Amino acid sequence: MLPAELIRFKQTGRSITVLTAWDSISSSIVEAAGADVVLVGDSLAMVILGHATTLPVTLEQMLHHTQAVGRGFKKPLNEQPLVICDLPFLSYQCGEDKAVAAAGFLIKNSCAAAVKIEGAEPEVLKVIERLIRMGIPVMGHLGLTPQSVHNLGYRRQAEDKASQEKLLSQALQLQKAGCFGLVLEHVPEEVANHQSNQLKIPVIGIGAGKNCDGQVRVTADLLGLSEKQPPFSQPLIEGRQLFVKALQNWVQQQHLQEENPTKEASE
Ligand code: KIV
Repeated sequence: MLPAELIRFKQTGRSITVLTAWDSISSSIVEAAGADVVLVGDSLAMVILGHATTLPVTLEQMLHHTQAVGRGFKKPLNEQPLVICDLPFLSYQCGEDKAVAAAGFLIKNSCAAAVKIEGAEPEVLKVIERLIRMGIPVMGHLGLTPQSVHNLGYRRQAEDKASQEKLLSQALQLQKAGCFGLVLEHVPEEVANHQSNQLKIPVIGIGAGKNCDGQVRVTADLLGLSEKQPPFSQPLIEGRQLFVKALQNWVQQQHLQEENPTKEASE
């Protein structure tokens, strides 16, 4: 699927589903679940690599994980989800040339067909315009932008009128720059509704209420695997407990077998 197809989904009122994946097991599960888009988010720095923020993940690590994601798909190429990869911290903040090289490195060497970039500062808008002119589709990301954690923390954003107006103006600038979609994270529901109504490009919400054009979730959060669950992403199952229990049973079976070697361990 081409990234621009998401704009057609919005026009026809079809909601868009985006789930993160970080390796071949998770991408095969997300593909089987029928998600439209797989996001290789830089949240993998925290969820998978154990860092305290998204900042330490490198471009090479993002490539490594995106390649693994691509190897997990089972469907024919034209039926696979669209893959978007996050440009990690410092891969696009140091100028347009570096950003083109970073995004090109990911697109050239993996299944990613688009990149996601946080913010809409004038420098970022220039980067986005240049990437799009070079043939690299870009998704924007506003609201809570985790790469700015040292400025914003993990608080809900756009709580007052001035910041809501700024957010809308930034979203319109991203649309004008050519983004094919926008992730809006941890903002009040009515702000997200208003943006979804004002923009022609789809607004994909997380912690932004249920009326966006689509929703994105960190798969490990939905499966109840994350150690620190964000307040706006409720788990669908208690995956961690289920896994621990199953493995505990297996470990106990092995010890039982040790004590009674004639008894067969369950497979
Ligand atoms: O990195 C990520 O997983 C993301 C989502 C939270 C949207 O950017």
